[in-house]
Amino acid sequence: MTTQILQLSDFHLLKNRADELRGVPTADCLMDLLTLVRTNYSAADLFVFTGDIAAYGDVEAYQQTRELFADLLPRCVMIPGNHDDSDLMREVLPERIAGSSGPVTFACDVAGWRMIGLDSHVAGAVHGELSGEQIAWLADELSQHADQPTLLFMHHPPISVASVWLDRIMLRNANELAEVLHAAPQVRGIFCGHVHQEFSGMLSAIPVHTTPATAIQFSPHTEELEFDHLPPGFRVIELDGDAMHTHIVRLPELKYPAT
Ligand SMILES: [Fe+2]
Ligand SMILES: [Fe+2]
Repeated sequence: MTTQILQLSDFHLLKNRADELRGVPTADCLMDLLTLVRTNYSAADLFVFTGDIAAYGDVEAYQQTRELFADLLPRCVMIPGNHDDSDLMREVLPERIAGSSGPVTFACDVAGWRMIGLDSHVAGAVHGELSGEQIAWLADELSQHADQPTLLFMHHPPISVASVWLDRIMLRNANELAEVLHAAPQVRGIFCGHVHQEFSGMLSAIPVHTTPATAIQFSPHTEELEFDHLPPGFRVIELDGDAMHTHIVRLPELKYPAT
């Protein structure tokens, strides 16, 4: 039987549900996607939010997340992005986030696979970095579950996405991550958000995939920020025994173009 994991990223939710970001009602975009999710993917085993849940770190963004996911919440895990406030995430969604302080991470089993979420948020910065504590925690997690095929999730991609402005705000210490992963051949993929577009590349021998935002899309291969005219979307990851397949699903049309 196929196991399904949905990665949803970069909701950029605002104070009020009707508020708009660059002319885009981000809560409405997420609600449209959740209608699609509830129609076609309601039995998914896990929903992973890869950061930028909030556009400006407002507590209301996390409260909206709670309300919008409602019935799906027991199957949700999450990590923060550069726009998030980890303390508020924890305060509003305490049963979905391990621990009472420190980095917001997760580690869980799904169909014999290990899912690990890393916190690449750097206070006050747009770029990402894995702290020494995160690197050590990851190395320990991987050595304790060396026999399980594993997927990693983090907000900031550890590779170039061939876009000048985005490449300046990626994960800064990808080399330290690569070093840890060199000793962990069980890692089959790394899934990221942050770049608001679909992209695939490699970190050493490990495939890295980025995922469209549930709200505004960025055009690929640009010198500076440009909005794309693709509809919002999310990523489906399917596990079948030892095999993994992944693809993007988008809304049928772009209802709210960014301006
Ligand atoms: Fe974002
Ligand atoms: Fe981001």
